[in-house]
Amino acid sequence: MRRITVALAGLGTVGSGVIHLLQDQADLIARRADVAFDIIAVAARDPKKQRSFNIPQALWFADARDLVDTQADIIVELIGGADGIAFDLARKTLLSGKPLVTANKAMLAKHGSDLAMWSRKGNVQIFCEASVAGGLPVIKVLREGLSANSVTHVRGILNGTCNYILTTMMREQRQFDDVLAEAQAKGYAEADPSFDIDGWDTAHKLSLLTAFAFDTVPQLSGIGVKGIRHLTLSDLNDAKQKGGVIKLIAQSAKDPHGNITQIVEPLFLDSASPLAQIDGVLNAVEINTSHAGPIFIQGRGAGAQATASAVVADLIDFAMGRGVPFLKGRP
Ligand code: HSE
Repeated sequence: MRRITVALAGLGTVGSGVIHLLQDQADLIARRADVAFDIIAVAARDPKKQRSFNIPQALWFADARDLVDTQADIIVELIGGADGIAFDLARKTLLSGKPLVTANKAMLAKHGSDLAMWSRKGNVQIFCEASVAGGLPVIKVLREGLSANSVTHVRGILNGTCNYILTTMMREQRQFDDVLAEAQAKGYAEADPSFDIDGWDTAHKLSLLTAFAFDTVPQLSGIGVKGIRHLTLSDLNDAKQKGGVIKLIAQSAKDPHGNITQIVEPLFLDSASPLAQIDGVLNAVEINTSHAGPIFIQGRGAGAQATASAVVADLIDFAMGRGVPFLKGRP
């Protein structure tokens, strides 16, 4: 059996989930992929924090950027944030010729073009399934399963925190702040939850789906973004009275002239529509395709286990020699 060495930066909700998943599913992964993953180095903001797993002291690095200088075959970046250490680490990883796994939608949305250029130049892969819709393998569906199709429209629920808040407020007749605190406690929300509730996390993810769907590069500046901060329980109850629900919806579309529009906003959906059925932390994406017809997928969009599932699937893809260019598109 092959052994692949992994360096892991960031041991928050997702990083911890990855460590547990690699332990829990080691036998299954060995059977399926004939590979064992050895975590040989880690870095996290607070090394003294009490954790639910043991990592020997010798494997800890104070500076995540130093992980690239270890013997690791692949670097996993789960720090988050568009810039700072996460971006330094990603740049150093790619320029050193090492492959990168990242769940960092903010970084990919902002620096996607540069990351793609370094990936191309160094012929090293970027794996990013966990960056959009948690455990839902929507990037794989778009880039691989639907690779023979042109896409006209992508529409979905891409933020687990917002969907959890809207669903729980309605179901339990509770106020916004109260339910937001619960979503944070469950590990769904961003470190700064304003990214979730003001729609920016959704916009980061939409910019990536748009780039993969339409062969462009992520572009945040053109996205109209409205979040859910201003919605009240009475807005949601009014929607119910009218036979529907309010959801934070992301959509992008390409018109016959090649113009692309992207928008994130709370929308009223008739209760019979498929997206209206997507409750709690679930995400869902509808994709209109030229040959495969309409595609609809749903799954858990946030949380330790679901997101770790996508990160580890990327590691397995690397081990199996699978993978597609990160971005091939143009602005
Ligand atoms: N805060 C994000 C969400 C985490 O709630 O969807 C997963 O990207």
